[in-house]
Amino acid sequence: MNITFRLNGETLALTDVAPTTTLLDWLRETRGLTGTKEGCNEGDCGACTVMVTDAAGARALNACILFLPQLHGKSVRTIEGISGPDGTLHPVQEAMVGHHGSQCGFCTPGFIVTMATAHLNGRTDHDVQLAGNLCRCTGYAPIIRAAEAAAGAPVPEHMHDLVPPSAEDTPGAEVTGSGGKSPAAFQPADSDALAQWYAQNPDATLVAGATDVGLWVTKNFHDPDQIAFLNGCADLQGVTVTADELTIGAMTTLTDLEPVMEELHPSFAAMIRRYGSVQVRNAATIGGNIANGSPIGDGPPALIALGATLHLRHGDSRRSMPLEDFFLAYGKQDRRAGEFVEKITVPRQPDRLRCYKLSKRFDQDISAVCGCFSVEVADGTVSRARIAFGGMSGIPQRATATEDALTGQPWTQKTARSAMAAMGTDFTPMSDMRASAEYRMQSAQNMLLRCWHEDAGTPVSVLEVRP
Ligand SMILES: Cc1cc2nc3c(=O)[nH]c(=O)nc-3n(C[C@H](O)[C@H](O)[C@H](O)COP(=O)(O)OP(=O)(O)OC[C@H]3O[C@@H](n4cnc5c(N)ncnc54)[C@H](O)[C@@H]3O)c2cc1C
Ligand code: FES
Ligand code: FES
Repeated sequence: MNITFRLNGETLALTDVAPTTTLLDWLRETRGLTGTKEGCNEGDCGACTVMVTDAAGARALNACILFLPQLHGKSVRTIEGISGPDGTLHPVQEAMVGHHGSQCGFCTPGFIVTMATAHLNGRTDHDVQLAGNLCRCTGYAPIIRAAEAAAGAPVPEHMHDLVPPSAEDTPGAEVTGSGGKSPAAFQPADSDALAQWYAQNPDATLVAGATDVGLWVTKNFHDPDQIAFLNGCADLQGVTVTADELTIGAMTTLTDLEPVMEELHPSFAAMIRRYGSVQVRNAATIGGNIANGSPIGDGPPALIALGATLHLRHGDSRRSMPLEDFFLAYGKQDRRAGEFVEKITVPRQPDRLRCYKLSKRFDQDISAVCGCFSVEVADGTVSRARIAFGGMSGIPQRATATEDALTGQPWTQKTARSAMAAMGTDFTPMSDMRASAEYRMQSAQNMLLRCWHEDAGTPVSVLEVRP
């Protein structure tokens, strides 16, 4: 595969790239740029953080689960490119030195790149920005103090990366061919090209943000025969809001979904802030979060509670279904060979959504239980309830018995408590390393009570561990 991107300000044209080469491996093993570290190799620690710039701006990403073709037409800045061309330290580097933000230093390059990207973007929510970077020895207080100290300093000129000229000339250029190396790869320029190709190559692996597929390669040594990178399909990206509905393209990242939800359904946005880390949210797409069929994905319960419709495409034919109907059984979705997720639509509605994510760790952790509630009340009576859970069965699932127990009843604590019992009809959760079945059931039931309390005006913010 032939790709073009910029690395620390230099335009590179690579030929015969093996498509599943991760940026991290290429930087360290081929390019000799060993400042970018390998910690977990699965997106959890941030040691491999790089800054990637495209027309949408600069974002921190984990290089260990980023394939080289995903960089086509973009600019990459590694730790080696954070100080100025004359060696002048970046303000966040100065501040880390001044505030003793590093001891063994293994995590430090990742922290610096995340901090420099946040600094460029004017972000001062340092604990959110740094939640994806783990440090085992310094402790976070000096690092946060360094980020605070650097916040007011001007952004060095060299940090304003440009996209490569060739990609500006040919936005979304198609990049085909295996370059003589397995797997055969295709990078369509739009969803029409994807639809045509995928219908003819239905066994291919689709790569959206690669926060799942990246792990198949780095951890399970998965070696697909055919692969399609969807990052060139600009028409699958972004959210459109009309008076009637919200249309979310399958390639919309969680980062891009968050501000829309902040406006329309703030509880969903608060949950997104606990979805992975900044680096994960910058890559992960809502289409991938649905298509992977995970029973513990955070997007589906919220979207099901909002009454979302899923839109699938195969070649020129399209079909739609309520999102909950897509999930048939554990590991089984209603998706035919060669069919892909095109978009999700959500009806506009007054905001009644409440999302509660329960995980062992507050940041950067997969849910043990995720409960999402939309309880509409008219004249004190529940007129409509849509409730969906992740982590309570083999699929993201609606709690229909619980909904029925609420509908038509006065919205009181007594009703909420009696509907909690109905959850035993809806779910038979399992025990695993995240939670026992009993804990899951009790937590899910308590989430309904929490929803009632929140409606009654009790402060129950999911960010409650913050000062
Ligand atoms: C460190 C880390 C933390 C995480 N934390 C969370 C979390 O808190 N909450 C959570 O829900 N998830 C979490 N995840 C899981 C993951 O980020 C999500 O499931 C993500 O949304 C997947 O999207 P993606 O774009 O990266 O998908 P990819 O990895 O590119 O693809 C995932 C699957 O979907 C398929 N696919 C992708 N797009 C389409 C499409 N348009 N049509 C058809 N098939 C498609 C792919 O072929 C693949 O089978 C985490 C992952 C990591 C690595
Ligand atoms: S090496 Fe840990 S996130 Fe990449
Ligand atoms: S300084 Fe050692 S891991 Fe952070």
